[in-house]
This record gives sequence, C-alpha cells and structure tokens, in this order.
Amino acid sequence: MDSQQAIVFGGASGLGEATARDLAAAGHKVTVADLNEEKGGELAGELGGNFVKADVTDPDQVKAALAAAGSGEGGLRICVNCAGVGAAGRIASEKHGAAPLEGYQWAININLMGTINVLRLACEEMISNDPDDHGQRGVCINTASIAAYDGQIGQTAYAASKGGVVGLTLPAARDMARYGVRVVTIAPGLFDTPLLALLPEPARKALGETIPFPNRLGIPSEFAALARHITENPMMNGEVIRLDGALRMAPQ
Ligand SMILES: NC(=O)c1ccc[n+]([C@@H]2O[C@H](COP(=O)([O-])OP(=O)(O)OC[C@H]3O[C@@H](n4cnc5c(N)ncnc54)[C@H](O)[C@@H]3O)[C@@H](O)[C@H]2O)c1
Repeated sequence: MDSQQAIVFGGASGLGEATARDLAAAGHKVTVADLNEEKGGELAGELGGNFVKADVTDPDQVKAALAAAGSGEGGLRICVNCAGVGAAGRIASEKHGAAPLEGYQWAININLMGTINVLRLACEEMISNDPDDHGQRGVCINTASIAAYDGQIGQTAYAASKGGVVGLTLPAARDMARYGVRVVTIAPGLFDTPLLALLPEPARKALGETIPFPNRLGIPSEFAALARHITENPMMNGEVIRLDGALRMAPQ
C-alpha cells in the first residue's frame, strides 16, 4: 500500500495511539490530534509525524487539524476518530432522582457531536482529493462501542452517544458514495486501555473473564489491525463492525 496522509483524533492514548502506531508502521504519514499535548506530541515525535492540539467538538480546531494533516501531496486519505469519554449513572433512582441532563449533554457532545464534527469536515476535506485506482478519495473510521447494542446498567448516556455513531454510519457512507469516500465504524468490546486502567486489577481481570474468546480484554493493537484493514479494503463501507470476542454484555 502506498504511503498516505492520515490523521488520528484521540491519537494520544489507548485505541487511537495503537492506531497511529500501526498506520505509521504501515508507512503512512500520521498526524496525531488530541487534547493531550504532552502525550500526543511525544508520540508524534516518535512516529516522525505531527501533533495538532484539537478538541473534536470544535469546528475551527478540527478543520485546522485536517488541513494540516492533508497539506502534502495526495491530500488527506485516512481519518480515524478514537476520541471519546466514558460516562456512568442510572437514569433515575429513588435516592438521587433523575440523572442530571448535563451528564448526557457532555457525553453526547464529545462522543456523538464530536464524531459528527470530525466526520463532516474530514469528508469535506477528502472530496477534493484525486481518485485512486479504485475511484477512492478517502476513508473515515469512527469508534462506537458495543454499549450501543447492549448497554449496561448506568450506561444510558454512553450508550445513547455511541448508538448515534452506529446510526449515522450507513447514511454517511451513502452520502459520500458518489465521491468515493468510505465511512466505517468499529464497535469495540472491552479493551485494555488507560480508560480501563482506572479500574483495580481484580476488576479488570473479572471484566476480561466475561469475554467468551479470547477470554481476556482486547489489546489495542487488535483494534488498530482492524482499522488498518478497513483502510486497505475498498469493499468495506457503511458497516459497523463489532470487535468484541463474542461478548454480549450482561445488564450488570
Ligand atoms: N477501551 C475500551 O474498552 C473501549 C470500549 C468501547 C469503546 N471505546 C471507545 O474507544 C475510544 C477510545 O477509547 P480509549 O479506551 O482508547 O480511551 P483513552 O482514554 O485511552 O483515549 C481517549 C483519547 O481521546 C482524547 N480525547 C478525549 N476527549 C477529547 C476531545 N474532546 N477532543 C480530542 N481528543 C479527546 C483523550 O485525550 C485521549 O487521548 C473512545 O471513543 C471510547 O468510548 C473504548
């Protein structure tokens, strides 16, 4: 595969970091975009790429990051968005009443509106690319979660935010089909990233044991391998791919 220009939002940590590493190892020129300047800058330096500080919910910052990532010959061809946050809390309880609306707005703003913001601007950026041998101008990869399908107790905000990402995948791919820009979403199960590292080791181990096979937490490089395959397979489009070791999460 030829070297292409790529950007990974949320690229400073976890699934995004692994994807940035994988794409760089495949010979692509990778821009890391994240809020975390220290980690993102360090990684970009290591990969021989660039770092851009960008909040996925901010149109100007995302536009500037995409323009910087696509400034060389060939334009931006690969956009992966792994930026996201977790959110927890029951929708209502006897003790606490209704969950605060702000928690929903926060999760939906970053996970769903952030995805929409990155996707719409990346698609715009890719439209002006010259088509490759397959007629392709680019590929955008979103990150949902299996919580979009089997959200657990306390996950309404998170599941709602990720359900939106699942829902927009097919229509976005249909919108962009005329330009040869593909849109694919990965819905990860449970992966061993800094997001989960906040839990104590016994809790992480217990989570891993809920996964049928492999009977362990996912490794970020396994997510990255799928993301790279999506970039390389022109037939993969408009789909949400669960990557979860056959896990179907229980209510709790
Ligand atoms: N780890 C899992 O088990 C798992 C499972 C399902 C889905 N996911 C999803 O995968 C994605 C990556 O998760 P992770 O586990 O790698 O988490 P992580 O916390 O390790 O990495 C997330 C990165 O996103 C960045 N970020 C957060 N808000 C941002 C914003 N507004 N703008 C730009 N960057 C921002 C953070 O700085 C961080 O570098 C998230 O969308 C998460 O919901 C993770």
